[in-house]
Amino acid sequence: MCGIVGYAGTAPAQGSTSSATHGALEVLVEGLRRLEYRGYDSAGVALVTANGIEMRKKSGKLARLLDELDANPLPASVTGIGHTRWATHGGPTDANAHPHVVAGGKLAVIHNGIIENYAPLKAELVAHGHSFRSQTDTEVAATLLGEVYQDLEAAGTVEGSLLSTAMQMVAQRLEGAFTLVATHANEPGVVVAARRNSPLVVGLGDGENFLGSDVSGFIDYTRRAVELGQDQVVTITADNVTITDFHGVPAEGREYLVDWDAAAAKKDGYPSFMEKEINDQPDAVAQTLLGRSDIDGNLTLDEIRVDPAVLKSINRIIVLACGTSAYAGQVARYAIEHWCRIPTEVELSHEFRYRDPIVDENTLIVSLSQSGETMDTLMAVRYAREQGAKTVAICNTNGSTIPRESDAVLYTHAGPEIAVASTKAFLAQITAAYLLGLYLAQLRGNLFQGQIKDILAELAKTPAKIATVLANSEQIKELARSMADTRSVLFLGRHVGYPVAMEGALKLKELAYIHAEGFAAGELKHGPIALIEEGQPVIVVVPSPRGRDSLHSKVVSNIQEVRARGAKTIVIAEEGDESVREFAEHVFYIPETSPLLAPLLTTVPLQIFACELAMAKGYDVDQPRNLAKSVTVE
Ligand code: F6R
Repeated sequence: MCGIVGYAGTAPAQGSTSSATHGALEVLVEGLRRLEYRGYDSAGVALVTANGIEMRKKSGKLARLLDELDANPLPASVTGIGHTRWATHGGPTDANAHPHVVAGGKLAVIHNGIIENYAPLKAELVAHGHSFRSQTDTEVAATLLGEVYQDLEAAGTVEGSLLSTAMQMVAQRLEGAFTLVATHANEPGVVVAARRNSPLVVGLGDGENFLGSDVSGFIDYTRRAVELGQDQVVTITADNVTITDFHGVPAEGREYLVDWDAAAAKKDGYPSFMEKEINDQPDAVAQTLLGRSDIDGNLTLDEIRVDPAVLKSINRIIVLACGTSAYAGQVARYAIEHWCRIPTEVELSHEFRYRDPIVDENTLIVSLSQSGETMDTLMAVRYAREQGAKTVAICNTNGSTIPRESDAVLYTHAGPEIAVASTKAFLAQITAAYLLGLYLAQLRGNLFQGQIKDILAELAKTPAKIATVLANSEQIKELARSMADTRSVLFLGRHVGYPVAMEGALKLKELAYIHAEGFAAGELKHGPIALIEEGQPVIVVVPSPRGRDSLHSKVVSNIQEVRARGAKTIVIAEEGDESVREFAEHVFYIPETSPLLAPLLTTVPLQIFACELAMAKGYDVDQPRNLAKSVTVE
């Protein structure tokens, strides 16, 4: 939610026409291109140039800023900041776009997050004679920073960077969530940032240093990154990175090497990231399984650094997540309860935190977050830890906040997910949560070693089966294209197929802006069946006929019930399941697999359906309207 880039490079040697490192504008624009998935309401850059701060910003997508830069080019510079916005305070206008330049044009500031006490701060600044051009909380923080800077300058008592000291002082006064980044004309070559509850990573270069909301902001230039802690201020110059807390006390960041490169964040010849990421899924699942079993096929999860005695004593699991990640949690719940016999609940993080939940040291919290930065989930995890619960994060982003604040982390290795709507992270999350479930079952002796090996062996076959679904996707794409005028689609599923149905509906809402609902098939007769009328498309996720009890036949009955009332029935079923044919207008088959692993396959045609239908309507599947990846505000 909002993308932030900062850069400090080396100025050209005397007489040379080119800079020793990169030009700031090039780095910022490249970074914004990669971070645009975090928000696309406006974009802007500010550079420290020989003439002081120069800034360009434009509402709308980055392309509009690039046109503006063509029309009004900026002079060369090796220091600057850039921002791509997901609007919170104030609409997506040019005036509300970042950077905000204040202090007589000398100070440029960008921000991600929400400053909750901006109103009293604004009133204080107005009383001091300041006026405001935008409706943003950012301009308030920027103006305060300018005022503090000016006071420090007048006092003349600070050694070193005034901007760093001013930033520390301002950060102490701000409440809420923020990454605030600033550069000042009086300190060319210096970029300073403060973070609280909002992401920021440092990139280490050679004679240049970077800041980014995440590593994709500088992955074209370096894979060496430094993770910052909570409530820290970082000052970068071309040769130096200094980290302190909000009171100026020196602090350390954790350096790490990003385990993917710029190529992984490119489209690889696909027209969109969405299509690429759907097609990445065999690899995302394979990578998540990689290295987590030994040569004999036994499970090895060394990452779960929670005392085994504690894990043996837990009597309850709560999975915390939002959106697609919460659906992954709902899928995983069926497997975890089945394998471990531990009562498992799945809660939307934002609901959990505010309902006075009962959590204690016998509760294991499992958070699922692709980004590792979702504020709702972060706050819920913090709350649970305060109550004494042990926390395990399942996350796709190394160095992000949720894993850092959890007792243990199981990384999904899906690679960077750039399209705003989640696809490959979903399958990777299910895979990782299944591994965690097997680990607990092993530890607590709920499953025999042989049973665990069999499940792992079945999981290992999944990537090839996903590849088969992808290879046979033309039929579902054709159907999707033919349904571009559809106004509403219902999705039905049972057992693990229920969260898959909800995920299928969410993908269609997000990408194609079509009204869609996912229901538990058994719930149909309790109300939703009233929605069925002639021609209403209903997509049904059918469980394996080899699955438990009479689940399969019950879902087949549900198909008949909606069909009898005129529904257009579209069915996802297991290869060889001929029983569904006579009740379905369209059947898409997935390879045979064990019932609990079926979501890793049945989800894929639903993703393809939503993506293809959205493209048929001419929509941008990578950046759907009103959305942003990584929701870092509550
Ligand atoms: C939907 C989607 C969102 C995210 C949700 C949680 O396609 O991407 O619903 O799943 O915002 O995000 P993370 O997993 O980053 O916590």
